[in-house]
Amino acid sequence: MSGVNEIRTSFLDFFARNGHAVVPSSPLVPRNDPTLMFTNAGMVQFKNVFTGFEKRDYSRATTSQKCVRAGGKHNDLDNVGYTARHHTFFEMLGNFSFGEYFKEDAIEFAWTLVTREFGLPKDRLSVTVYHEDDEAFGFWRKISGLPEDRIIRIASSDNFWAMGDTGPCGPCSEIFFDHGPAIPGGPPGSPDADGDRFIEIWNLVFMQFEQMPDGERVRLPRPSIDTGMGLERIAAVLQGTHDNYRTDLMRALIRAVADLVSVDPDGPQGVSHRVIADHLRAACFLVADGVLPSNEGRGYVLRRIMRRGMRHAHLLGAREPLMHRLVPALVREMGQAYPELVRAGSLITETLQLEETRFRRTLERGLGLLEAESAGISAGGTLSGETAFRLYDTFGFPLDLTQDALRPRGIAVDLGGFNAAMARQKAEARAAWSGSGEAASEPVWFAIRERVGATEFLGYETERAEGVVTAIVREGAEADEAGLGQAALVVNQTPFYGESGGQAGDHGVIQGETFRFRVEDTVKRAGDVFVHRGVVEQGVVRVGAPAVLEVDPARRGAIRANHSATHLLHEALRRVLGDHVAQKGSLVEAERLRFDFSHPKPVSTEELEAVEDLANAMVLQNSAVTTRLMAVDDAIASGARALFGEKYGDEVRVVSMGLTASEAGVAKPYSVELCGGTHVAHTGDIGLISVTGESAVAAGVRRIEALTGQAARRQLNGERARLRAVAGLVKAGIDEVAERVAQVAEERRRLERELAEARRRLALGGAAAGDTIAQIGGLRYLGKKVEGVEVKDLKGLADQHKASLGSGVVALAVVGEDQRAGIVVAVTEDLTGRVSAVDLVRAASEVLGGKGGGGRPDMAQAGGPDGARVQDALAVIAERLAAIG
Ligand code: ALA
Repeated sequence: MSGVNEIRTSFLDFFARNGHAVVPSSPLVPRNDPTLMFTNAGMVQFKNVFTGFEKRDYSRATTSQKCVRAGGKHNDLDNVGYTARHHTFFEMLGNFSFGEYFKEDAIEFAWTLVTREFGLPKDRLSVTVYHEDDEAFGFWRKISGLPEDRIIRIASSDNFWAMGDTGPCGPCSEIFFDHGPAIPGGPPGSPDADGDRFIEIWNLVFMQFEQMPDGERVRLPRPSIDTGMGLERIAAVLQGTHDNYRTDLMRALIRAVADLVSVDPDGPQGVSHRVIADHLRAACFLVADGVLPSNEGRGYVLRRIMRRGMRHAHLLGAREPLMHRLVPALVREMGQAYPELVRAGSLITETLQLEETRFRRTLERGLGLLEAESAGISAGGTLSGETAFRLYDTFGFPLDLTQDALRPRGIAVDLGGFNAAMARQKAEARAAWSGSGEAASEPVWFAIRERVGATEFLGYETERAEGVVTAIVREGAEADEAGLGQAALVVNQTPFYGESGGQAGDHGVIQGETFRFRVEDTVKRAGDVFVHRGVVEQGVVRVGAPAVLEVDPARRGAIRANHSATHLLHEALRRVLGDHVAQKGSLVEAERLRFDFSHPKPVSTEELEAVEDLANAMVLQNSAVTTRLMAVDDAIASGARALFGEKYGDEVRVVSMGLTASEAGVAKPYSVELCGGTHVAHTGDIGLISVTGESAVAAGVRRIEALTGQAARRQLNGERARLRAVAGLVKAGIDEVAERVAQVAEERRRLERELAEARRRLALGGAAAGDTIAQIGGLRYLGKKVEGVEVKDLKGLADQHKASLGSGVVALAVVGEDQRAGIVVAVTEDLTGRVSAVDLVRAASEVLGGKGGGGRPDMAQAGGPDGARVQDALAVIAERLAAIG
């Protein structure tokens, strides 16, 4: 008997031998579909390959695809545990041909695999075809040799498979296994077909069309093949049971449950074991693919699955959280085929434990209320919607959990009443909003929030996703469409990070069939509505349009690096400067980061270097960055750094990075912070951290600025180039440049001193050496143009000349670089009765084109623009003196 793992492998090996690429399962959160909640078939990841929109480098593929059918269109949640074949999580084996082989080969492969590889007896098999598909009928006849009455024509949609309301589709053909007359049920197409005797094990879809939104069905570029075989079902058949929960894999999980609770899995409480085994798989795989429990969207489906499982753990008498203790059993069974389970092991364990711990706080009281309220209701009766709503709102009981709890007693829930209570609560919440400040300024976002709900953020896992435009805002008001120009778009799910926690919003492109929108910024409004602001560059965008959203990956990469670097610097500052360092603010952009923190004085160069060294040591370590979900109190109690005064939800993301050896020699995370931002996968992705500045922001608050990765490298390269240029100028090697520049500066200071001294001597010494002292009418006159002296020094110089003259008149003029002349006239004391320095300087000023001058009779000063006429001005003074003398 083959185990599930061997069956999976032999399926993939068979198709690999037949030229198919073995492609890994895609994540449970589909990135290439705007509305699909979870991947629910093998073909989902190939949707665009079928339509010709996307090319791959293979044209045959085989997969074992993780699927979840809970929430959304296909919802099997309610039946899980009570039937032999329903699951929330299952694996779909499939083979695919993208325009290569078609019906005949697909049937040939299927028949060979089922009868030869798997060795199923032909007399237990029958097949169905779409009633008009004579071709498929003929191939089955020829290839399998089955009698005509076991090739059954089915007219209903059962044999026409479509992915959804739109997308690839085509007629299909199904293979059934007959579990034998011991089990009630009839062959497909018969009135008893719903029984458990004839079980569909494989569906071959002959993909031929694409269903368009307008109802039209167009032919695919090339006919293709998509098949789906439920691994759990085929395993049951091959292991001789008709119950999927009796296969080796499910049995191992059920035994793990039984071991922990010591309750017989084959006794009356077997349903609970099955529910837990199934829900464990769904929960663990969803967490591994990035979904975390929440109250919205996918996160809420996960929470419902988890809590439903947890109630059954409670029913089995578990007094402590149970589900997380089953993770090792699941990893043992499935970790090899799905390494993401191993990678995300601790996140899965902690998330399950946290959820169960929290739910247990209200579970018993909720069950008490349920017990009391339903005590008087007999089978066929209904529990009031109000009570179900109270259980939901106050005790955290998802509706389906309440329904599940009442199911064994045949009691239903009044859904109308439940929905009415829910609507009433929303109306009250709306009334509360309209009183708040934000509502007053931007009521439009609250209306949108109420209508379309929170945006689902996919950006931790992916930078590209499909979504549906749910609202458009233009010039502050909602619109049904927007043509070229500024607009804001809301999409049901987005990979774009909305600005928060200091991290800048993402940029990128949103495109649909009829438009292209450039996202220039992303912000969050009304709490959790992500608003993409930007410009419609082409066409017209309409509400309801499917769209592909692509974040600018280079920019996001730089932001990630800067955000992670901020955490490393924060911790480094604390370790270097002390425990008083607390975050006061931060800014994380693509180009740079800055971090404000409490510290009473400037950080010294040595301290900054130590901080930079420590942070870069963590970068070089290149250890994995991990994210966990924790209750906020537990996170803070465990030492995670939180922002003082920040409002956090009940549950928070906790980001850890870097490793340090603790005393016991066990590695401990270096930095642990509460953070909703996006981060690098490994610290080495940061590349390099370069601190570029340190400054004061306010009393007791300092700021450091830094660059990472390429920006840091570019900045350092720039500095080096400037240093080289300097070295070239001072003719020194890089290593001696500082010394050389110091020498040059010292030399310059010395030369300046010498120059000043020389000028002074020149100005003074000139009088004695070369100047002629004129004798004009009994007066001694020294008139000269001086060089290398500034106007402000003329008076001092004139005084000195006066002293050496004894009695007489001195006139000194200078011409500046701007050709302006300055002139000073000095008259010795004994002559001031006869000669006025003011009169003389005014006469000179006139010649120089100036506006007169001023001073005292013994010393006066003037100037004028006409520097070329200095000698004339000095001559005019001489003439005046001649007239007086
Ligand atoms: N896509 C087909 C199915 O899910 C094979 O049944």
